[in-house]
Amino acid sequence: MRFIGNKESLAPKIYKLLTKHKIIANANNQSFFDMFAGSTSVGRFFKKRGFQIYSCDMLYFSYCLQKAYIENNSIPAFQTLRNYIKFKDNANTCLFEKTSFCKVLEFLNNLEPMQGFIYQNYAPSGSKDLHIPRMYFSDKNAQKIDAIRTQIQLWREKQYINESEYFILLASLIESVSLYANVAGVYAAFCKKWDKRALKDLQLKHIELVQSDKVHFCFYGESRECLEGLQDSQSKIFDMLYLDPPYNSRQYAPNYHLLETIAKYDNPAIKGIAGLREWSEQKSKFCNAKTALAELEKIARYAKYKYLILSYNSEGIIQKESIDELLKPLGTLICEQIPYPRFKSNNKRAEKFVSEYVWILKR
Ligand SMILES: C[S@@+](CC[C@H](N)C(=O)[O-])C[C@H]1O[C@@H](n2cnc3c(N)ncnc32)[C@H](O)[C@@H]1O
Repeated sequence: MRFIGNKESLAPKIYKLLTKHKIIANANNQSFFDMFAGSTSVGRFFKKRGFQIYSCDMLYFSYCLQKAYIENNSIPAFQTLRNYIKFKDNANTCLFEKTSFCKVLEFLNNLEPMQGFIYQNYAPSGSKDLHIPRMYFSDKNAQKIDAIRTQIQLWREKQYINESEYFILLASLIESVSLYANVAGVYAAFCKKWDKRALKDLQLKHIELVQSDKVHFCFYGESRECLEGLQDSQSKIFDMLYLDPPYNSRQYAPNYHLLETIAKYDNPAIKGIAGLREWSEQKSKFCNAKTALAELEKIARYAKYKYLILSYNSEGIIQKESIDELLKPLGTLICEQIPYPRFKSNNKRAEKFVSEYVWILKR
């Protein structure tokens, strides 16, 4: 998924570093806590390599992705739902085997459109009475999102789908919506003209699930509080604590407000041209130069772990020297610099690559 700071292409490089420094000997039975999970790409990568994953984020839509990709270990059978719904046998959502998952996606793709919260607030016709009608989704796609989201909820309330199936369908919707939104990367603003992708007919994406024989755990909330809770109640010592906090003042919650609303579907009070929901509870201390280093220190100094792995951008609000100074006294420290593509630059002359620092601290 297109997400600020998505480490999909950095994860293999981190893994290589860990192998080079002989930190990964046998992933079996090693625990890996992805404390700022976002799109879940790092957790997924390490799950595939046999680690037991814990993951956390303060965004609810990230939690939905975590439940589907990290906690869930199997392909959904939709056993109960199949007793209630007649699926078409010619489902064409998937080019390969017509699994139950494909058939459910096909069913959802063909629902009657519905004029719900997303249509009324984020599509031009639904929000036509506003001074500037919102153009986040085409009228038709907004109605499809409402119909699909409402159906998923109804199935869950009637217990036609279990918890894993519920989150797998939500994750499919969240991933798909991103492909049709009329935005330039994030949701803080919509484009004033229609992007080609926003005019295509929304089709739910078949997401790739990761199977595993381990039990994995996902959390929604502030990651340090979550870590402290786990360490107090279970005296858990993590083999690897992976930290990928925000590195600048751009808060994630307002930038992804619409994914949050689709995931929660809670008819929030919204305001402004962009239709932002209230997000003051989701402010990250890592986005503030005054509090970021102190937050990092609380985790690095007081948490119990064997290795702490920290990703941080070379243009971040905490200086590299300050991080070195903080981590050095705590154990054996390695820091490597990896060239990394910029998320998006409107400045054509700006460099396309920045550096990502990776610190590995052995306690
Ligand atoms: C740089 S992104 C992580 C990207 C992720 N590694 C990926 O590959 O997609 C930072 C994430 O940290 C989350 N976040 C920020 N502060 C947090 C906090 N105090 N507790 C939990 N999550 C936080 C944000 O919501 C965002 O998803």
